[in-house]
Amino acid sequence: MRTSASASGRCGRRSPQSRLAIAVALLLTIAATGAAHGDEPATEAAEAPVPPTADSSISFDRDVLPIFRRSCFGCHQNGKRQGDYRMTEFAALLAGGESEQPAIVPGDPAASYLLEQITPQDGHAAMPQAPAAPLSAAEIETIRDWIAQGAVNDAPASGPSYDAEHPPLYANAPVITSIDISHDGRLIAAAAYHEVILCDAESGERLARLVGLSPRINSLRFSPDSTRLAVAAGTPAEAGELQVWDVATRQLQLSLPLGSDTLSGVCWSPDGSRIALGSGNSVRALDANSGEEVLFQGAHEDWVLDTAFTADGTWPTRAAHSS
Ligand code: HEC
Repeated sequence: MRTSASASGRCGRRSPQSRLAIAVALLLTIAATGAAHGDEPATEAAEAPVPPTADSSISFDRDVLPIFRRSCFGCHQNGKRQGDYRMTEFAALLAGGESEQPAIVPGDPAASYLLEQITPQDGHAAMPQAPAAPLSAAEIETIRDWIAQGAVNDAPASGPSYDAEHPPLYANAPVITSIDISHDGRLIAAAAYHEVILCDAESGERLARLVGLSPRINSLRFSPDSTRLAVAAGTPAEAGELQVWDVATRQLQLSLPLGSDTLSGVCWSPDGSRIALGSGNSVRALDANSGEEVLFQGAHEDWVLDTAFTADGTWPTRAAHSS
């Protein structure tokens, strides 16, 4: 308050206008000082020494969730609980799985089993398992810092989560975006919201609901021997997902995150060993068992809407917006 004290000391020698000006200045000074007091904790926090490696602004939604979505959700979701561990819901993400060790202890990276699992020992980390690529050192650091900072969930509340026991409820008949008939003519698979509905082709009876991670399904196809079902799915403008279901057991064999938008135009090679699909402007072909990518062709200017293999299975062809 040194400024205001000297200003009021000079007040008496000034004209009324300049006194008014000084009063206004005084008020502003007081207002400014008040604001500064209000900000005090933030000012102090900014001046507090920050450990050189810790980035104090890690966001779960922006920084951590995309890593989990790409590298972990394929095996740790409602439809596929490897190690009895679900990472797609926040409470379950913290809780952990079959080891009964807490996966994430907010504020305590050393006590967090998840961190132990993703940290390489002798150059190899237990998680993620193949076909997911190992996490980079920077990604592990991001997860560690987020846990150290209290593992805060800043993701906007997501919609309800569905699984086989809690399938979607429809107020009206769902939009069917894709349909296929098994090669023996006995089954019909129809894509709806978050799920594929399997029906008996003769009676129309509903046999199963294959509920997956992604809300949108653009395309589905039975494998040539009809034992599996490939599903091109995703969350629009966020993530693509290829699902492969075992038709007899209704189990999700593969859930593979691919690209940043809903996938489309899925098809099988004639021998059932590979799957091709459209992923944004590109065509991808993958090994149907491991999910390993065997072809990436990104030369299209517009969306790839459908794909097909040549009769000898050597090369997927495609239909795009532009060609
Ligand atoms: C391809 C499948 C696959 C992927 C991808 C994967 N996991 Fe796992 N995860 C497993 C399996 C299987 C287990 C069961 C234990 C085992 O076999 O080692 C497991 C177990 C775990 C456990 C132990 C749960 C418990 O309490 O027993 C943690 C933690 C874990 N995974 C974290 C992750 C994280 C984090 C990622 C991503 C960075 C990830 N996993 C990606 C397959 C996968």
